[in-house]
Amino acid sequence: MKNLRFLVLHGPNLNLLGTREPGHYGHVTLADINQSLIELGDTLGIEISTFQSNHEGELVDRIHQAASDNIDGIIINPAAYTHTSIALRDALLAISIPFIEVHLSNIHRREEFRHHSMLADAATGIVAGFGATSYLLALRGLQDHLRQI
Ligand code: DQA
Repeated sequence: MKNLRFLVLHGPNLNLLGTREPGHYGHVTLADINQSLIELGDTLGIEISTFQSNHEGELVDRIHQAASDNIDGIIINPAAYTHTSIALRDALLAISIPFIEVHLSNIHRREEFRHHSMLADAATGIVAGFGATSYLLALRGLQDHLRQI
């Protein structure tokens, strides 16, 4: 079976996980999440690269780079850019690599402005509300999707 390469992107303020609004996001840190993704990737034969930025343009640049890096799939928690960013949407559509949108919290249980995503209708799937486990579910879902096509 071919090894897959996934890029995991984390948007603004996710570098503060662990201390940021634990009622919504728990106590897990971004380093913990990345480590658990790498470990699950190892067992599934998936190479994981991770990138976090608080800057929209840097995330756009990293998405463009995914095409030349031969990335098979993207897992993205766009954080607040979920609700605002046409630029991230356009970048993901431009490279046509399948992606999963991930949220730690269930955005539909929260403020109304979080209910809309600029990316969701272009995503292969969405996982929200399971805390750090959302990322691991996305990893398994994306690998099943890619191994079937
Ligand atoms: C989030 C939800 C977003 O609404 C919020 O702006 C975030 C994190 C989540 O993972 O639950 O920063 O994407």
